[in-house]
This record gives sequence, C-alpha cells and structure tokens, in this order.
Amino acid sequence: MMENYLLRAKHENYALGSFNVNTYDEMVALCETAARLGQPLILMASMSCARFMGEKTFVKLVQALNDAYPIDVYSHLDHCTDQELLLRCIDAGFDSVMFDGSHRPFAENLQITSSLSAYCHERGVLLEGELGVIAGEEGPVKSKFSEFTDPDQAECFVRESGVDFFAVSIGNAHGFYKGEPKLHFDLLEELVRRCPVPLVLHGGTGIPQEDIRRAIAMGICKVNVGTEIRSAYVSALYSYTQTHEKGDVRDFVKYLRAAVGTASERYMECFAAAK
Ligand code: 13P
Repeated sequence: MMENYLLRAKHENYALGSFNVNTYDEMVALCETAARLGQPLILMASMSCARFMGEKTFVKLVQALNDAYPIDVYSHLDHCTDQELLLRCIDAGFDSVMFDGSHRPFAENLQITSSLSAYCHERGVLLEGELGVIAGEEGPVKSKFSEFTDPDQAECFVRESGVDFFAVSIGNAHGFYKGEPKLHFDLLEELVRRCPVPLVLHGGTGIPQEDIRRAIAMGICKVNVGTEIRSAYVSALYSYTQTHEKGDVRDFVKYLRAAVGTASERYMECFAAAK
C-alpha cells in the first residue's frame, strides 16, 4: 500500500499543491518551481487529459519527473465520473485517483466509492472522494450553485467509504470567482474535527493567500489549482504571438514555462509558509 503522503502533511500542518495540467511544458514548469521552493507536488490529469494523453503516458511522465527533480512528484486523476477510466488509471499506476460521485444521491455515492476504495487499496492507490457540490465547471461535473458539505453525512461517508482524502465544499468554487471568495471557516473547523482523513480544497484559483494559509493551518492538506495555470499558459501564448513576428518562434516554450512558473508561485508560497 502506498503511504498516504497527505497524512504526513496533516500531522505536520502543511499542504501539497495539486495542479491540473494538460501539457508537458506545464508539468516541467511546475516541477521547476516546486523544486526551487523545496516542496512536494501533485500533477493532476482531468478525465479529458487522461484520455488524450493516455493514462499510461501520464503516469510515465510523472514518474520521469519524480526521478529528475529532487522533490516528490505524484500523479492524480481529478474529478473522475467514468468508472471504467478510473479503473484503467488505477491499473496504469496513478498514485491517487478521485471518484466524483458528488452529483449522485448520498447512498449511491457511498456505495460506489466504497467498492472503488477496496479496489484502489488492493493495488496500493489512494482514493479521494467528495460530498457536497462545488459550484463551477470541472469536466462533466457542472453546477451553478454550491451545496456545502454536510458534517453529519461527511463523518459517515469518510468512516464507511474508506477514502484516503476527502474534498469539501465550504464556499470554494471552480474557475475564476465572481467577486471575493468567501470560505466558511466555521464549517471547515467542524469538518476537520469530524473527519480524520486529510481534507482537500478544490477551486484554488483566486482564493486570497491569507485564506489559503488559514485553511491549511486548520487542516486542509491538498489545494487544487487549475484555471489560473491554464489561463497563464494560454495568455502567454497569445501575448507571444502579439509581440513576435510570424516565424520568429524559437523560444516560445521558454515563455510558456515562465508564465506557468509565475502563476503557480503565488500558490506554492502558501504551501511552504504553512509548514
Ligand atoms: P480551479 O480551476 O478553480 O483552480 O479549480 C481546480 C480544481 O479544483 C480541480 O479539481
């Protein structure tokens, strides 16, 4: 069984940055930044990334980066609703996977998550589960509104399902926030008290640094960031094309890597500071 590396983070009160990636240059840029700051890193494939890159390729790339950099780099499958793909990713050797049954009725989510946790654990893979609805869009899981995680259900779900990490909905949302994000720290406090596993904060993009630090100090052990990284990458590509003559494109990858490095650093500073 793979060691639950987030348990160490929980006991030592820090968090791992967990970033959505779609390209190898994003992966390298994140590893460079994490290595410079001396912190471990999780690289996440969405379902579409796992499909187009291929789950085996994704695992091999992450393993190669883990060997190449002096930090731990882990692979994770994010927000998976397709059980067949999830099993393929487990068999391919992902370090952890997330089954997202949050849009299903509680009993059904619990039943599927429990059976997947047995499958994961027999193969040494860690499982993330979720209860409550996080507003915004993440692959096929979309919602206009949040439904906060219910502490009674959360306690039961974590105990019965056997998940290794647990994603909470406490006012966080996917994508850029409209207005100032408002995390409900009183709810987080109760969830930390009642759920013994490491908790995960999705929707990291745009959450102020002081709120991320506070959430980590209270017990968040994994912070997911996607939109800001993708956006930095695409904006850099756009501005590169605006400032370079057609054909003068030799160093574009350097630009893209630098943009991803800068965008991720603001988040990574919080993870290091919380140690
Ligand atoms: P953001 O895109 O809002 O950063 O959220 C990413 C996420 O939570 C992936 O699971």
